[in-house]
Amino acid sequence: MLGGATENLTPHRHRDRHRHRDRHRDRDRSFNYNPPMALARLGILISGTGSNMKSIVAACESGDVPAEVGVVISNRADAPGLEWAAQHGLATALLSHRDYPTREAHDSAVVDRLRRAEVDWVCLAGYMRLLSAVIVDAYPNRILNIHPALLPSFPGLHGQRQAWDYGVRVSGCTVHLVDLELDHGPIVIQRTVPVRPDDTEKTLSVRILEQEHIAYPEALRALLGGSWRLEGRRVVSV
Ligand code: GRF
Repeated sequence: MLGGATENLTPHRHRDRHRHRDRHRDRDRSFNYNPPMALARLGILISGTGSNMKSIVAACESGDVPAEVGVVISNRADAPGLEWAAQHGLATALLSHRDYPTREAHDSAVVDRLRRAEVDWVCLAGYMRLLSAVIVDAYPNRILNIHPALLPSFPGLHGQRQAWDYGVRVSGCTVHLVDLELDHGPIVIQRTVPVRPDDTEKTLSVRILEQEHIAYPEALRALLGGSWRLEGRRVVSV
């Protein structure tokens, strides 16, 4: 299902001979992606309203993003986005983290469901859970997240509030590939918004969210619509 993707890492047999040089090599590791001929299948993970999910669904339906949604999964029964997705005719699943003894056990159930839906890309859209290696390793460089601040500034919860409290004059949102560190992986798209003198945390958050709804489909178009390479932290079109 992973299309023509290849991982271009230093072969093991050369690792020992070049161990010294390899210590400096991480930034040279590259990852190549060639889009599949068929539509990519997305799994969308949510915990709440799901407005970003809706922007992704709309972009798939209009043909702006060359993908279809295979399943929407929520870890919360009361996520309004879950009901919207079901009413919209999408496959949905509720997998509450409370029903599993460990983060890994929950993530494993999520991966099973994603695989059953034959998903090849995962979009975190307001999914309020840290991901363990169980998910990250199952979809290497195939998981996207959106964060409501300009990373690497203000990672973690309440990015908008952190930026507001800090007094920045410009904020925005970031769509990035997901690795094992919180809000850390390679950046795909950032969109900025000015912070106005009469803003409040709320008005700033609303303006950022409008840009999020543009940024997520834009990032998906960039990643699914053509070939690209990952050079260190840089996503480079080829
Ligand atoms: C967004 O601000 C997103 O950046 C953050 O959580 C919020 C989710 O909103 N990760 P929604 O559920 O997509 O409306």
